[in-house]
Amino acid sequence: MSVETREELLALKEAGRIVRAALDAMSEAVAPGITTAALDAIAEDLLTAEGARSAPRLVYGFPGTTCISVNDEVVHGIPSERELVEGDLVTLDVTVEKDGFMADAAVTVPVGRTEPAVRALLAAAQRALSRALAAAHAGARLNEIGRAVSYSAHRDGFNVVRELSGHGIGRTIHEPPAVPNVYERGARQRLNRGLVLAIEPMLTSGSGHVVEDADGWTVRTADGAIAAHAEHTIVVTEGAPLVLTAA
Ligand code: CO
Repeated sequence: MSVETREELLALKEAGRIVRAALDAMSEAVAPGITTAALDAIAEDLLTAEGARSAPRLVYGFPGTTCISVNDEVVHGIPSERELVEGDLVTLDVTVEKDGFMADAAVTVPVGRTEPAVRALLAAAQRALSRALAAAHAGARLNEIGRAVSYSAHRDGFNVVRELSGHGIGRTIHEPPAVPNVYERGARQRLNRGLVLAIEPMLTSGSGHVVEDADGWTVRTADGAIAAHAEHTIVVTEGAPLVLTAA
């Protein structure tokens, strides 16, 4: 969607604030021994208290409140009785609906002590997101976002998961336009002030190809390499974007 009114902006900010609160509460609870279902329950309690709903459950019937993806899982992992172990990396992806407006953000966090290679991947995902946000200003072309992501990832020695993209958001989870994480020649449309986008680089130490599990949801790297994901929902402005899901 494109923000037209102050009321819309306030409603989007409220959805973004709840996403941030859920991500922070879940991140704080990440530790060896906790199950991904227990992390999901933290978000469910928070959303309920805020009068918000899980957008993936609402829109797609996702079997969880949030998507929790471990190690080689890239997106849409289903919360389960799986216990996190020291050295894992876990992606928490939260999309909420509040009063008809939606915001989406994700973070990948380490479980206990992790190897330097894992920490490098996490830092690279954050850097790619920062560069992508800097590229997402009014008047820029859509494909400049993907160019920023892939340039940053490659410079840090990682590959982009090309098959997964960011997206427009606001009134529902996935709105046009798709926001590729690589440079796509044809994605030449100009970004207008007020456009609401979920920008979400996904990086991996492997080839970047993905496969879907038999559960019909979980998407993991085809080669088993670890993946990291960093996502914010933003409103495009003339300058730095307004980050609705910022800390
Ligand atoms: Co998203």
